[in-house]
Amino acid sequence: MPATVASTTGIQIPAHVPPALYYHAGITEGSDFLAAPHAFMAGLHGKAPPIFFDTSEHSHAAWNLIKYDDAFFVLRHPEYFTAAGTGPFPRDPDDYWRIIPLEIEPPEHRKYRAIVDPLVSPKTIGTLEGAIRRLANELIDGFIDKRHCEFAKDFGRPLPVGVFLDIMGLPRSMMDEFVRWAMGLLHAQDHALAGQVMGEVTAYLQAVIKDKAAHPDGGAVSAIVHGRPGGEAMSAKEIFGFVFFLFIAGLDTVFATLNNIFVWLAQNPDRRHEIIAEPDNINNVVEELLRVFTVTFSGRTLTQDFELRGILMRKGDRVTSILPACNYDPDIFPNPERVDFHRPRKPTLAFAGGVHSCMGAHLARLEIKVCIQEFLRRIPEFTLTPGTEISYWPGGVVGPKAVPLSW
Ligand code: HEM
Repeated sequence: MPATVASTTGIQIPAHVPPALYYHAGITEGSDFLAAPHAFMAGLHGKAPPIFFDTSEHSHAAWNLIKYDDAFFVLRHPEYFTAAGTGPFPRDPDDYWRIIPLEIEPPEHRKYRAIVDPLVSPKTIGTLEGAIRRLANELIDGFIDKRHCEFAKDFGRPLPVGVFLDIMGLPRSMMDEFVRWAMGLLHAQDHALAGQVMGEVTAYLQAVIKDKAAHPDGGAVSAIVHGRPGGEAMSAKEIFGFVFFLFIAGLDTVFATLNNIFVWLAQNPDRRHEIIAEPDNINNVVEELLRVFTVTFSGRTLTQDFELRGILMRKGDRVTSILPACNYDPDIFPNPERVDFHRPRKPTLAFAGGVHSCMGAHLARLEIKVCIQEFLRRIPEFTLTPGTEISYWPGGVVGPKAVPLSW
């Protein structure tokens, strides 16, 4: 481990970080960030150095990357920048389990992805479209006549959970429980509650894993339980780390994306009309909204000393790609704050890139597309309920706490 110095806010900074690259940003927790997170991240360009060390309280003592090309490079070079040990959950070192497939690097990584990739391929996901549309409409039926809803609670969370349960091979009757668990685990303000929820989730997933071992089916939990990466059965810890990570990765990210998008749609009637008037452009609409409302980050650790943009980083340093900021890089996306549904196609980093690029990207895109289409078809005119102040969750998935809509 490199020697460190303490910043004035108590953050341990590796001694080799030049003070000129210290920057008090406050990403994910600071008050400027929480007031308007995406505008904040767009605003880093021109204000913060392209690579900086966030010295603010709660920061993760990491190099922060805000340039698209830098992040893309890091994501595509796991030999220098490893995801091993960077998962978002602290684990007991005496009973350690890996978050799979994120914390496994090539060449083993491919063997684990191969177990679940067929269940989330474009072809398989395409077969789910009818079921997603039906669920979207059932949820809308539940509130349309009331002329108001709390979008996050009534639609933005239950829809992804319902779809996720189908893919995992778990019963839809677990919907409310899964919403509660996802929120409790990722957004509980007190550790005791998060610990209690973790216990409940672990007990449920362990029971499901046991059941699928005896009764295989076509769902993802069964595929994992019976998967044999490289021809070998997985250990109980590996199976748990894999199933648990799908739960973590596949819910809150979709909640946050939908909730961000619907705040914006409520505030921009002309842009809603544009989407409705150009139904064939919906895939570009989804890509552009994913770009401007990118919700998460990507953490890595240096496996050896490495120089990026002329800056020496040392083995053991942590590096965070600020994906939402990278997607506002003006060198890649001119006039980046403009939401342009006819922007020339360029892959965004909403789902990261390289070997760990999001496994659920096709599913997430389809969910977002169907939600926009069905909601705008049935409720084309809506606003944020008067008097609403949108406030955001602190932490690694950027989204509003509640989205009250009226029509
Ligand atoms: C809009 C929704 C989503 C967003 C923005 C998102 C974003 C991301 C990002 C940025 C990564 C890369 C993390 C890294 O490199 O450190 C990732 C990885 C991953 N995501 Fe997603 N995700 C979404 C939905 C989903 C869904 C629905 C699932 C599962 C059904 C899922 C499963 C995964 C898995 C398993 C990985 C790890 C892949 C690997 O290590 O090979 N994600 N996601």
